[in-house]
Amino acid sequence: GAAPAASGPAIGFKAVPISPNDTVVVPEGYSVQVLIPQGTPLSGEPAGKSLGAMTAAEQGAAVGAHHDGMHFFPIEGREPDQGSSTDGFLVVNHEYIEPRFMHARAVGMSVGNGRMPLTGGARDPEEVRKEINAHGVSIVRIAKGADGQWAVKADPRSRRVTAATPMEISGPVRGHALVRTKYSPDGTRVRGTVNNCAHGVTPWNTYMTAEENWAGYFRNLDQQDQKPNLPREHARYGVPTGQTRYNWDQVQGGGDEFERFNVSSTGADATQDYRNEVNAFGWLVEIDPFNPNAMPVKRTALGRFAHEGIVFGPAREGRPVVAYSGDDSTFEYIYKFVSARPFARATANGSLLDEGVLYVAKFNADGTGEWLPLQHGVGPLTAANGFADQGEVLVNTRLAADAVGATKMDRPEWGAVDPRDGRVYFTLTNNSRRTEAQRDAANPRAQNQFGQIIRWREANDDHAATRFTWDLFLIAGPEGNSRIAGNAPVNADNMLACPDGLWFDADGRMWIQTDIGESEQLRGALAPFGNNAMLCANPVTGETRRFLTGPNGQEVTGVITTPDRRTMFVNLQHPGATTSAADWAAGRPNSRFPNGEGAPLSATLVITKNDGGIIGT
Ligand code: FEO
Ligand code: CA
Ligand code: CA
Ligand code: CA
Repeated sequence: GAAPAASGPAIGFKAVPISPNDTVVVPEGYSVQVLIPQGTPLSGEPAGKSLGAMTAAEQGAAVGAHHDGMHFFPIEGREPDQGSSTDGFLVVNHEYIEPRFMHARAVGMSVGNGRMPLTGGARDPEEVRKEINAHGVSIVRIAKGADGQWAVKADPRSRRVTAATPMEISGPVRGHALVRTKYSPDGTRVRGTVNNCAHGVTPWNTYMTAEENWAGYFRNLDQQDQKPNLPREHARYGVPTGQTRYNWDQVQGGGDEFERFNVSSTGADATQDYRNEVNAFGWLVEIDPFNPNAMPVKRTALGRFAHEGIVFGPAREGRPVVAYSGDDSTFEYIYKFVSARPFARATANGSLLDEGVLYVAKFNADGTGEWLPLQHGVGPLTAANGFADQGEVLVNTRLAADAVGATKMDRPEWGAVDPRDGRVYFTLTNNSRRTEAQRDAANPRAQNQFGQIIRWREANDDHAATRFTWDLFLIAGPEGNSRIAGNAPVNADNMLACPDGLWFDADGRMWIQTDIGESEQLRGALAPFGNNAMLCANPVTGETRRFLTGPNGQEVTGVITTPDRRTMFVNLQHPGATTSAADWAAGRPNSRFPNGEGAPLSATLVITKNDGGIIGT
């Protein structure tokens, strides 16, 4: 039976223990199926070959790597979270890649590196195309069979968006001088999206994918070439001056398909090179999962930073659309967008995201907070201070937030809105760089290895408000160094570190996913937490129980249920990243390379309750 509203949602399962083991554990009475590991063809046909043997084109027609944020779109759905619970599009972000698991010749690469070495000073174009095609987003039709197992179902609308897919640039930066390139001299288009971490779902039932650690895919050699310093729109985001993450620019004679990742300047005219290519990354990208002909759109009014994801406030007829997004880097910020035009269910579409005000959060020590507008001409954001127009403010969102005096946070990751009371929660995953002198009320620990969850209530419960009140819901960590709101005790059933994924189900259960970094798992101060896990919390009482533990080397990220809440999808990203010995695939053939050989692969877990009940009850 349902718990009284005053005590929050019912949590009915028995907590699973902390686990250092190379396996998936869920509570008694639950079952797990592994679905769509990297390399699964979208066609529904068997792969017929290992991931290492697949061509670039085959990877481009198959599920990508490093599953992250995700949503289930019921097949006949018109409204978010309504419609079929047995058939729909699973839309999955692919954050990055593990090259040593992708190319036959790279299997012997050193563990925990994840980077592709240059051979003879160059990259092979086919391998680079394969890596490009393993990035982006999968839109894949899945359905539940008569046997209760889920499988890929053929649908011509299933498709891949990759790091090469043509995209529109919309909003205030469309056509701006800072996004004009040799590919798009008028600054309206760009190829691809990379490092798609978490996601969001719009009130008009489209998917938003967030570009997080995109800067490392590019490099700027201007300093090496003894030209002036890096432009601020490169420097403030950490565009490398040495090698890029995967050396995609290092295909000899490869043409601009690859050279575009070298964002050095070659002369006076920006449309003769790719110096501005990187300015078309760092955005939120809207994808219509039901229309394969709809070009993805980069919505620039939402700002440019290391977007972790986006979460929308509840849409209300006649009121602005409101969405929140965190910038996941140490000492970066939490933002909110409020649309200029009101929401109207009958006509709402992505253009609502092209006009509005982007705000950044300031958390005061007294538990109040304010949203500071990042609007050209307001406060310090003037031409005299180097912001000539709103396009410059948005391309340089971090600098604009610096200028207005926002609060520097401990790596903002996912946000979620409690459906019961409208409060907004954000995970702050950790920040070991914070010093004693840099502590503040919202980020209270120096050398913060464990993270916290902050929450706020907008003034008058209006998501468009410019003031709020806040507190810390959770200070993560071991017993004695941590607490949960409501003074629920921290114990072996609920202790966690490095909260990252965050989602509320329709009953108001809060699901928390952890991301202890690969190099820290099972080591030092993080050792007591075991492998990364997913927990379920009651936000009213603070009662929290561990629901799932994952295998070695992975992070648990991405969670959604079917509308009936009886099937839950959860992603396991980069299993085996820390050790060549990790072999989560053991005993689960479809989590290995599709032909049963190879390496541990990212995949989606399908979790059901054996009695057919609602997940978490
Ligand atoms: Fe991709 Fe901030 O996690
Ligand atoms: Ca990740
Ligand atoms: Ca994350
Ligand atoms: Ca993370």
